[in-house]
Amino acid sequence: MDEHLPPDDLDTSIEVAATLLAGARHAVALAGAGMSKESGIPTFRGEGGLWTTNGEPPMNQFDGFAADPKRWWERRLAEGVGAFAASIDSAQPNHGHRALAELEAIGVLGHLITQNIDDLHRRAGQRSITEIHGNRHWMRCLRCGQRWPREEFIVDPEDLPPHCDVEGCGGIVKSDTVMFGEMIPPAALDRCERETALADCFLTVGTSAVVYPAAGYPVAAVRRGIPLIEVNPEPTALSQFASVVVRAPSGEALPALVAAVRARLEASRT
Ligand code: APR
Repeated sequence: MDEHLPPDDLDTSIEVAATLLAGARHAVALAGAGMSKESGIPTFRGEGGLWTTNGEPPMNQFDGFAADPKRWWERRLAEGVGAFAASIDSAQPNHGHRALAELEAIGVLGHLITQNIDDLHRRAGQRSITEIHGNRHWMRCLRCGQRWPREEFIVDPEDLPPHCDVEGCGGIVKSDTVMFGEMIPPAALDRCERETALADCFLTVGTSAVVYPAAGYPVAAVRRGIPLIEVNPEPTALSQFASVVVRAPSGEALPALVAAVRARLEASRT
């Protein structure tokens, strides 16, 4: 693991990143599992990640679901909530989530694309969000895209798989979380593309940037010559393209970044 840079380099990287953000009119961020590590939710890759430890799961989960949704649902109800899901259900937003929400509130962050399904950004106050891999606390119809809060959607174990009750639909309903091999809802992809096209500064936080299409948005921004800021304690696939890398945990880096941005905005007003 890339050790944290000496404090003066960390401070310098935060000053450079703050200058880029304070000068932006529509910054866009891509968040990954590293954002929620300090909330007790494990990452997938990198040091101590779930898959670093246990190996990757099959990448064709959705094929199995589509082949026999009834069976999938029977197994899901029988297995109950696993350890990873339980870590999500007990997690609280951390200082990093609150800092990103503050960047939106002060008019710097125009949109957040998150790969996380834990809802912690929204609970921290973020409003302009695309949950590109869905949200664990919601259910979704595969045919019409209708979504329901999980606790409001009654699943009848005698009538599986659950079906959509929208007039004339009747599609199969599953968790809103996007499975490997499942199509990401087109509206989510459209929003990510539109926001990335508007971006004049791009921030990646806590993502290894190896999963597409999510990782494609910072790449598209860099291709347009937009400055990229990376916040991650470890190097990633995009580090080489970043204008500045803040090598620190997001819960520590983001509050410092917001304070530095606020200082610049204040100074520019005097
Ligand atoms: N703060 C910020 N980043 C951190 C922290 C931290 N405290 N701790 C670890 N990280 C970084 C790791 O260095 C790593 O680069 O978070 C990143 C997590 O990478 P992944 O586990 O690959 O998570 P992510 O990039 O979100 O994965 C993308 O792949 O597994 C699928 O669908 C899943 O949404 C996920 C997608």
